[in-house]
Formats: sequence, structure tokens, C-alpha cells
Amino acid sequence: MYILGINAYHGGASACLIQDGKLIAAVEEERFNRTKYWAGFPVQAIRYVLSVAGISPYEVDHIGISRDPKANLLQAALFAFRQRPSLDLVRDRLQNTMKVGTLKSEFAKHMGVGELKAQYHNVEHHRAHMASAFFVSPFTDAAILSVDGAGDFVTTMWGTGKDNQISVQDEINFPHSLGIFYTAVSQWLGFPKYGDEGKVMGLAPYGEPRYVDLMRKIVRVQRDGTFDLDLDYFVHHAEGASMSWEGGEPTIGTIFSSKLVDVLGEPRAPRTELTQKHMDIAHSLQAMLEEAEFALVRRLQKDTGKQVLCLAGGVALNSVFNGKVLPNTEFEDIYIQPASGDAGTALGVCYYIYHQVLNQPRAYVMNDAYTGPEYGNDGDSHRTRSLWLEVSAVGDGSAREEGGGSRGGRECHGLVSGAHGMGAARARQSQHHRRPAPRRYEGHPQRAHQAPREVPPVRTVDSPRSHRRLLRPDVP
Ligand SMILES: [Fe+2]
Repeated sequence: MYILGINAYHGGASACLIQDGKLIAAVEEERFNRTKYWAGFPVQAIRYVLSVAGISPYEVDHIGISRDPKANLLQAALFAFRQRPSLDLVRDRLQNTMKVGTLKSEFAKHMGVGELKAQYHNVEHHRAHMASAFFVSPFTDAAILSVDGAGDFVTTMWGTGKDNQISVQDEINFPHSLGIFYTAVSQWLGFPKYGDEGKVMGLAPYGEPRYVDLMRKIVRVQRDGTFDLDLDYFVHHAEGASMSWEGGEPTIGTIFSSKLVDVLGEPRAPRTELTQKHMDIAHSLQAMLEEAEFALVRRLQKDTGKQVLCLAGGVALNSVFNGKVLPNTEFEDIYIQPASGDAGTALGVCYYIYHQVLNQPRAYVMNDAYTGPEYGNDGDSHRTRSLWLEVSAVGDGSAREEGGGSRGGRECHGLVSGAHGMGAARARQSQHHRRPAPRRYEGHPQRAHQAPREVPPVRTVDSPRSHRRLLRPDVP
């Protein structure tokens, strides 16, 4: 039985194929079109995962997408009634929703196929996130938490997983979102691009928590471990921010309001000087995110009594927080889906259909993230292939890695001091762009002419307790 899952018309468009519960391939569209976080219909990714299995779309039994326009309609209606969002926001959402709601015709249009035997499924966004972590983990009994910007009107969802079923306990709805909070302050800090939040996470340790009290006014953690936003600091719920979700790199317009400017001052322009104030705000932002997430995680542990946590959603890409979960909570084990952002929902869709819908038994554990294309002497026509052939021409780079000092290895190494630096990739690429394929760089061609730079020391935050086991699929 073949199941094809896709993430489309959303950042990180991707596809995943499983056969009888075993993962065949999973990859983002950006691996092929080289546009970061590309949003649209992942035609090339779908073609690739089908080609790995050697099948056509006519042989697929189930096709699913990680959005369900019918989910949370009541919450959406209540939001529209209370907040009265702008007509532009309503129109944008409707157009996007119509596309994901007509998966069958969209699939036929983009893939150029006729009537298929496949059944079509719309999987609610956060259920896809939760499935993407729990069902491929080695655990059969766990608490599950999904936190992101927003998807199907939900920003946070949690519950439990037992064997081949997930049970949702509760959720927090749009517009209250930790992902949107992080994006808004990142925009103010001069990092406006989709996915720039990771840079701000890296900036945070260089500052001090001088603005945490202000952050606590923006994100209000409740006694029950949930949170809400003071919406006066945002515009995403009312005016709506211009968003582009099709045929290119996703863009999100400014989502912080003038009230944030009143309290923080003028936003930093991109690529201008980063001052201590900017670093302090980044630090305070990260601290606030962690405070709110810890409240959620501790509540989840207390409510469920589980020893294992499975974490997914775009906010689970915040590796600084992830590393603090085990030392600071009662959870004994943790599993984080390597593509925990939206790209990984394609995988979640497959396993949600296989287990939750079709009630099939667990059959697969994701022990590594190398589910994408690989390059070799027989690879596709790609720049990487030409580099590989150049390396092959002077020797097999693996000889140097394994034994060192071989002729091939010395010759490879010698090239590095020239103008051409090189690398060798000899395994499948990972499903998600933040998880690079196993490879070995011997130099960087574009920097061959530069003198070595002084690299500032990496700052880390001490943990009050020693780390217990952090289980995460093998990534370099
Ligand atoms: Fe998401």
C-alpha cells in the first residue's frame, strides 16, 4: 500500500511516500528549485518520491495534504465575529483554503494526470505535525506537543500517543501564537525573511534579559500553562499581514504594531549594526518563548504523567529550548522530528493516514533524516554532480576519510589550497534543509581568496541539571 503525503501552498512545500508503513522518501521542493522555503504545489518533490519507488501516481492508494479547511470552522467564525478582520485578510485566507480543499483537482492539474484510484485525505495541520513526531519515534506511549505560527486556525496543540493512535487533549487558536510572537519581534530586530527566526535564536545568547518584563506583557502565561498574546502589539489578527504562499519564497508582511515601536523604539533596518540593545531584546524574546513553552510542557507532563515527550511544529526548530527540556522537566526522554517545521507535515500526513485512519500497526522508526535525493556518478545533471566528478577524477575522497594519507586523499586535500575548494556528498540528502546531508567539506570555493577570519567564541547557556538522553534522529 502506497501513501503519498504533501505539504502544499505553505512554506516548505514537500512530499513524502511510504509503502506498507516504511518510509520510501521525503523531501522539500526547495531541494530541486533552490528557492528557500518555496511555497506552492511540490511537483518535483512528488515526482522524486514516486521515482524512488518506481511507481506512477496511478499506483498510489492514498494521497493526503496537511491542511483541512473544514477543521476549526467554529473557532474561525467566532474570531471573524469578534475581531472583524480586514476583507483582504479574509480574501487571502479563502483563496488559500480553497486550494487545499480541492486536493484532487489540484493534484490532477499540477501532475497532469487523470482519474486516480487513490483516496484523498485532508489532515488537520497540527495533527499532521503531531503524527510526524510520534508515529516515527521509537516510543509507543508519549505526550505530544506541536507549536508553530498557525495552521488550520490552530497555533498550539497537545495530547498523547499510544501505539498507533493519537489523542488530542487541547489546543490554542489563532491569533494567539508563540510562533507569531517570535516572528514579530524578529521582524522588529531587522530579520524579516521567512525562517529568519533561527538567526535571532543565535543572537540571543549575546544579550541580557533586560526586556523580559515587557515580553511578559506581550505574552501572558496563564496559571493553567496556556498563554495568550496582548494583541495590541500585533496586526496579524486585524489588518492582516500580506502573505505570499504560492510559487516562490514565502513572504510575510510586518506583523508588529505601532505599540511595539512605542515601547522598543524604531525597528532595526536589515543589515545595519546590531547593538547591545538588539542583543538584549533577542535574549529577552528567547527567554519569553522558553518561559511560555516550559509552562506548556510542564502542564502536559503533569496532566498526562508520561515520561516521554514528542515535539513537533515550527517552534520545535528552536534547538536552544529543545536542549533544555530534559534537564528542566520531569520528562525522561524526548523525540524531535528532524523536519519539525511544515516540511515535515508531509511525512506526518502519511503516518496519520496509515495509523490513525487505516488503523495499521506501527512498523517504522525514523533513525536518520536522510530521506532525499543522493548524488553520485550516476546522479542527475546537477552542479553537485560535476563537483563530484571533479573529486572522483583525482581520487576517491572516502580513502582519506577512512585511512588518511592515501594518494586520492592527498590530491583531494591539495585542491583545497587552490581556487576550487570542494566537498563530497555520498549519502541521501535530508528531508529538511536545516539537516544537511552527510558530507565532508575540504574548502569553500568562494572563500579561497580570503584570509582566515577570527571566529567569535560561541556562547552557551549553562543548564542547571545534567543532560539526560536526548533522542533525536542521527543528524550531523
Ligand atoms: Fe505548521
